[in-house]
Amino acid sequence: MKNKTVIITGGAQGIGRGLVKSFLDEGWNVSAADIDGEAGLELVEVMKEDSRLSFFKCDVSAAMETEKMVADTAKKYGAINAVINNAGIGVNKNILELSIEEWNRVLAVNLTSVFLLAKFSRIHLEKNKGSIVNIASTRALMSEPNTEAYSASKGGVMALTHALSVSLGPLIRVNCISPGWIEVSDFKKKRDFKEPAHSEADKNQHPAGRVGAPSDIAQLALYLVSDKAGFITGQNFVVDGGMTKRMIYV
Ligand SMILES: NC(=O)c1ccc[n+]([C@@H]2O[C@H](COP(=O)([O-])OP(=O)(O)OC[C@H]3O[C@@H](n4cnc5c(N)ncnc54)[C@H](O)[C@@H]3O)[C@@H](O)[C@H]2O)c1
Repeated sequence: MKNKTVIITGGAQGIGRGLVKSFLDEGWNVSAADIDGEAGLELVEVMKEDSRLSFFKCDVSAAMETEKMVADTAKKYGAINAVINNAGIGVNKNILELSIEEWNRVLAVNLTSVFLLAKFSRIHLEKNKGSIVNIASTRALMSEPNTEAYSASKGGVMALTHALSVSLGPLIRVNCISPGWIEVSDFKKKRDFKEPAHSEADKNQHPAGRVGAPSDIAQLALYLVSDKAGFITGQNFVVDGGMTKRMIYV
């Protein structure tokens, strides 16, 4: 993968940090864009100041910042081959208490950002027959109470994925990964770091027998942006250890 470049949004922590590590391990140049500058500095430290990694402090819901981050990435590496839209936030509140500002913020970070990244990186991806991977969620398919903004945003990501695949093909492929429960507490900046702890019940509700890890998402993302996946576009892939396939009678 020498000289191939990927933009990973929300790359400083969590699944994004795992994606950054896996792409660096596979020889990619990585542009990690994250709103959290403190986590970004730590990311660079954790990745041993790898010269192929650049951190950009960027709110991916803000058009001008995102346009600049994409342009700066292209300028630095000379090309953009893949974009992984991973940045995301949630809010758990009864709709009577959920403000319109909170609703709009979740939609802006989780969904509008995917539109902005596609808009600004299109010209670069087309030159290289590149690929976009959007991180949605199994919550696009099923819900707990009081998760309306998050679920709606992730359903939007899934629909935007197939819309973009039709509009941007054949030069750009666009796919979506929907993670289930992925443990990220040990992929956080130092002051939010926690050792993962899972009960037997946590593990057993997954037919795969365990909670997921960021590498479970990264391995599929690496495949989807590779030439091996050249006939796959517009699809959603659930990576949840089978959790959404287990029928529950309470
Ligand atoms: N962890 C899970 O179990 C799980 C399950 C399903 C889907 N997801 C999705 O995976 C993605 C990553 O989740 P995570 O658990 O790693 O979250 P996380 O909170 O650990 O990391 C998210 C990162 O995104 C960054 N971010 C937030 N808002 C941003 C913005 N406006 N601009 C740029 N960066 C921003 C944060 O600073 C953080 O570093 C999200 O889209 C999330 O919805 C996670």
